[in-house]
Amino acid sequence: MNNAISLAKAYEKYFKIGAAVSVNNIDSYRDLLIRHFNSITPENDMKYSATEPEEGKFTFDNADKVVAAARDMGIKVRAHAPVWHNQTGEWMYKDGDKPAPPELVYERIDRHTKALCERYNKDVYAWDVVNEAVIDEQAKDQIGDSDTYRFSEYFKLCREGFIEAAFRSMDKYSPDAQLFYNDYSECDPTKRARIIRLIRTLQDKGCRIDGFGMQQHYFAKPDYDELKRSIEEYAALGLRLHITELDVNLMATVEHGAQRLKPGDPGFEEYIREVMSPTPEKLAEIENIYIRLFEIYRSYSDVIDCVTTWGVADDYTWLDYFGMKKDRPRIKQYPLLFNVDRSPKACVKTLIEAAE
Ligand code: GLA
Repeated sequence: MNNAISLAKAYEKYFKIGAAVSVNNIDSYRDLLIRHFNSITPENDMKYSATEPEEGKFTFDNADKVVAAARDMGIKVRAHAPVWHNQTGEWMYKDGDKPAPPELVYERIDRHTKALCERYNKDVYAWDVVNEAVIDEQAKDQIGDSDTYRFSEYFKLCREGFIEAAFRSMDKYSPDAQLFYNDYSECDPTKRARIIRLIRTLQDKGCRIDGFGMQQHYFAKPDYDELKRSIEEYAALGLRLHITELDVNLMATVEHGAQRLKPGDPGFEEYIREVMSPTPEKLAEIENIYIRLFEIYRSYSDVIDCVTTWGVADDYTWLDYFGMKKDRPRIKQYPLLFNVDRSPKACVKTLIEAAE
């Protein structure tokens, strides 16, 4: 493929093309990012655990490096996921030995948001303000008394008030950036109805929410009709849409669905054999899925502003480690648009040609 051809340039008239990066890889991906991408998401470096591991102890070194590298490349940042039930220190939920009252949690969110925004506002065009606050069957250990919300530490302390508090603070300190709610399994009809309920609740309270982030992690062949229905239903809320964490992998070829099998589970060995063999057919299917997905995204470019892959090239993907115990061998996955050697997959050319 002609190296001068760029995915981001080809898609300028449709939407931005983004990638998740980290402080450990952003420099090494520099050429690829400059050529093919025009949006950057820090995969982990802006989360609470990275930026405020202890109360009041701000550690912005890694986020600073990512943002500085992005600025140097002339790429704006899609900032990701401060208020989330994961990767957040226990201090958030405690008041000494006691559980923190909601007001204290809101105060902490507000102070953190202020610090983040004052530091990064110039470089950030959109925030995933709250991540994954809705309940679903995958979050079995976090099912509580709500048919909408995940029974997270935040929710136990504040009910859904923490979501509003996070959006209010972000609006106050980052008036010019777009504010998103972000979630996974967003095309599953049951979960979609819950997400819509969450968004409507915020809107009814007069909270600014500009968009919904559709994560789009695919563990099995997408249901394209549900994808289209979801885009339409979310857009009908008056929101802009970003595809925020797109990747397509082979894991669920044995067990269809997002639930991972664990060592010891019935069928685990068969599952491992299956996912360990990335046959040419399976790899080609991943590329075909990308082509079909982008066709759909393009057809909704009036509401979709950005499509971000969760990683840059197959040499590094979180999926190699997902759902596996630490002592198990890594199961290499190939879920992105660029190969392990960082060359574009054949489908990149197809995607570029389809955009012209
Ligand atoms: C979720 C989060 C991301 C990331 C992935 C796994 O989708 O939104 O920030 O942690 O899980 O990498």
